[in-house]
Amino acid sequence: MFLPIISIYFLTLIVKCFRIDVEQERVIALQLREPANKKIWKRSGNFEATLNQQDYFYTVEVGLGTPPQNIKCIFDTGSSDLWVPAKTNPFCLGNEPSTNGTTQFYGVDIVPSLDCDSIGVFDPNLSTTFSTIGYNFSTQYFDGSYSDGYWAIDEVSISGKEVPNVQFAVANTSNAPAGVLGAGLPNLEAVKGYDGAPNENYDNFPQMLKNNGLIDRVLYSLFFDGVDSQSGTVLFGGVDVEKFDENLFTLPLVNIYEQIDQPAAFDVTLQGLGIRSESNCTETVISHKMAPALLDSGSTIMGAPEDVVEKIAEELGAVFSESDGLYVLSCPSSSDDRTFYFDFGELKLKVPLQDLLFLPDSGQSYCGLAVIASGDEWILGDLILKSAYIVYDLDNLEVSIGQFKASSGTSIKSIGAKGSLPKTIQSKASSWSMNGNTNASTKSVFDQPLPKKCRQSPTKTCPAKQKTVKREVSQIVYNEPILENSSTNLRPCRLLCMILAMFYSIIYLQ
Ligand SMILES: *[C@@H]1O[C@H](CO)[C@@H](O)[C@H](O)[C@H]1NC(C)=O
Ligand SMILES: *[C@@H]1O[C@H](CO)[C@@H](O)[C@H](O)[C@H]1NC(C)=O
Ligand SMILES: *[C@@H]1O[C@H](CO)[C@@H](O)[C@H](O)[C@H]1NC(C)=O
Ligand SMILES: *[C@@H]1O[C@H](CO)[C@@H](O)[C@H](O)[C@H]1NC(C)=O
Ligand SMILES: *[C@@H]1O[C@H](CO)[C@@H](O)[C@H](O)[C@H]1NC(C)=O
Ligand SMILES: *[C@@H]1O[C@H](CO)[C@@H](O)[C@H](O)[C@H]1NC(C)=O
Ligand SMILES: *[C@@H]1O[C@H](CO)[C@@H](O)[C@H](O)[C@H]1NC(C)=O
Repeated sequence: MFLPIISIYFLTLIVKCFRIDVEQERVIALQLREPANKKIWKRSGNFEATLNQQDYFYTVEVGLGTPPQNIKCIFDTGSSDLWVPAKTNPFCLGNEPSTNGTTQFYGVDIVPSLDCDSIGVFDPNLSTTFSTIGYNFSTQYFDGSYSDGYWAIDEVSISGKEVPNVQFAVANTSNAPAGVLGAGLPNLEAVKGYDGAPNENYDNFPQMLKNNGLIDRVLYSLFFDGVDSQSGTVLFGGVDVEKFDENLFTLPLVNIYEQIDQPAAFDVTLQGLGIRSESNCTETVISHKMAPALLDSGSTIMGAPEDVVEKIAEELGAVFSESDGLYVLSCPSSSDDRTFYFDFGELKLKVPLQDLLFLPDSGQSYCGLAVIASGDEWILGDLILKSAYIVYDLDNLEVSIGQFKASSGTSIKSIGAKGSLPKTIQSKASSWSMNGNTNASTKSVFDQPLPKKCRQSPTKTCPAKQKTVKREVSQIVYNEPILENSSTNLRPCRLLCMILAMFYSIIYLQ
């Protein structure tokens, strides 16, 4: 049937105007913030001193119960459960350290040291909609923190939207700096992790947003508002097409667990890593083979296989400091343009060297390298994710990733149940798989040759290498500076204090 062309035109207009409202309704924007207060927190049993910890993680505010109790939770793509500390957590300042006669928690002395009032704690007695489901909760994180308590059900509100009957855990005891809103896949939920667990997947928070009709696809974008910024944004159900360069590239999740046949975590294929300085016409390939890399907003730093970490350190002239537990190097000048290239196939994610350094106090000349050995799986924490725009699509087990672009503009598209994302291209790069060929499918880890001036007058420089001696070096670092011209030694602990949270579940699949 034909309609006059003019009415189609008007119809389109009406639909368009209408759709804008609808679109905004199908997206929930959530602000991420670094907690403003710096608090004292003893990270793990390995570290003896009480540290003046510069915690560095992003939290979102969650309203829990009726009436809502506001609690700041770490937004974590590396785990899948929502849990909050109980008001009675003996690690909270002001609480008794031994509520049940013990003074230890997984071998750590219980010392009230967390400023729980500013982060928020949960008191189930104050919620009229609270109920328990009769199972204990227990989880452990990579940074050595633990959380023990029990599973419960209550209403959760975020950004003014209410989600009833959300399963979460109340942690009677936890030495983690804050609760966690785990936004990973149900396969990674901690219910599988211990004896007597219900051993089934439940619909976690992102799933519940869809179940309640608040979003159409279990999907969210996560980006940080600029590299120096202290905030970020989660868009449940939406993509802001103003916040990335050119296109996003869609990569399938890869499965790193032999016991299961579907991916459980946000691991994607990394094809390699390089470092380049355009001003000096130097570039080095650190690694050029496929490996799984976890996109983990709950971690701050970067984890990589040991040989990769050693190669990065060698390239940067960093030496391992035993007492800091980190590689240290003389701080590069502000004009140093060395940049890491993370090769995801078509996308080469660029991360400035400066972003992966911990700066010392003023007057000191050493910087810490925010890279640690993490086994075969790479872990890309906030310091790297800050350079990226990432869409996590839990329904389709894929991730779309692009270079973040700081922009004052905003254009948020809601994402329907089916169909592709705006400005997004399916990556053609091959994927890592267990026991598969790990040869990279990309020609180069760099997206283009060095600038023309480099080719005309090749200044092939050998970087002044410092020997990387892993064990013995820390004494030297502190007694006599081995790097040239350091006026002050690092105070031990300074950098240690900056080893930052890594929040991803350690799971035990059966
Ligand atoms: C809730 O109230 C009960 C008894 O009234 C008390 O034993 C318990 O400690 C309270 N729980 C919390 C988390 O405050
Ligand atoms: C849950 O933990 C409590 C307190 O530690 C313990 O008494 C109880 O037996 C545990 N329940 C199960 C099912 O493990
Ligand atoms: C947690 O605390 C509640 C209330 O105080 C108690 O009933 C429960 O047994 C505790 N669970 C664990 C695992 O300690
Ligand atoms: C007491 O609490 C600690 C911390 O939750 C726990 O590790 C320990 O098992 C508890 N002991 C008893 C006897 O419930
Ligand atoms: C570039 O080379 C100059 C001179 O060799 C050196 O001082 C500078 O540190 C180098 N910069 C980088 C980024 O490697
Ligand atoms: C992987 O690369 C190595 C070195 O280039 C080559 O010898 C090998 O045949 C390649 N393996 C496969 C399966 O392509
Ligand atoms: C280190 O200091 C010495 C003496 O102060 C100076 O001669 C030398 O050039 C400095 N080296 C560097 C790399 O700045």
